Amino acid sequence: MTLRLGDLAPNFQAETSQGKIDFYEYLGDGWGVLFSHPADYTPVCTTELGTVAKLKDEFEKRNTKVLALSVDGLESHKGWISDINETQNTEVNFPIIADEDKKVSELYDMIHPNSNENFTVRSVFIIGNDKKIKLIITYPASTGRNFEELLRVIDSLQLTANYSVATPANWKHGEDVVIAPAIKDEDIPGKFPKGHKVIKPYLRTTPQPNL
Ligand code: BEZ
Repeated sequence: MTLRLGDLAPNFQAETSQGKIDFYEYLGDGWGVLFSHPADYTPVCTTELGTVAKLKDEFEKRNTKVLALSVDGLESHKGWISDINETQNTEVNFPIIADEDKKVSELYDMIHPNSNENFTVRSVFIIGNDKKIKLIITYPASTGRNFEELLRVIDSLQLTANYSVATPANWKHGEDVVIAPAIKDEDIPGKFPKGHKVIKPYLRTTPQPNL
């Protein structure tokens, strides 16, 4: 299934390392990150899952649940999780889907047959609290993802959802943001009481509004 930004994230039920879940129930009214891994017991994936486990507080602060997937089975996941805990000095604290029948991988188009017929690529979906897809990125199997970047994108998406702002290139939490073009100049002082700069009529910035 081809999914695009703005589409409703399809719901599913799946077996995971933490029991059977319904995706929508798991997300509740928060945000979500669904990310796939080529296979269990592989080196890059091991470091990725350890990294995500260590970022638990950061995802929680953003009211965001994480959910991993690989096409290996539950027994394999269990053994691999204890390796991850041991080698990455952490505890995997989120579910990993055991997608042996590839139901979820196919639903989210995570298998790219010209890359590999049997395994998922490294897909990432960020899902908003309206259950719509806000971001899709696809990495090759050989490149571990930058999860700090995913947190940065969640910060940006949540700012956009709550205020009429966007974030400029390389923006980081705490830096000025861009006022949405739809906001009229005369409405800016009321909406952005911390002040603003007009660099060009179409490029107006303001301090990050939620600090
Ligand atoms: C890995 O996770 O280390 C990996 C998986 C598939 C291909 C290459 C690397």
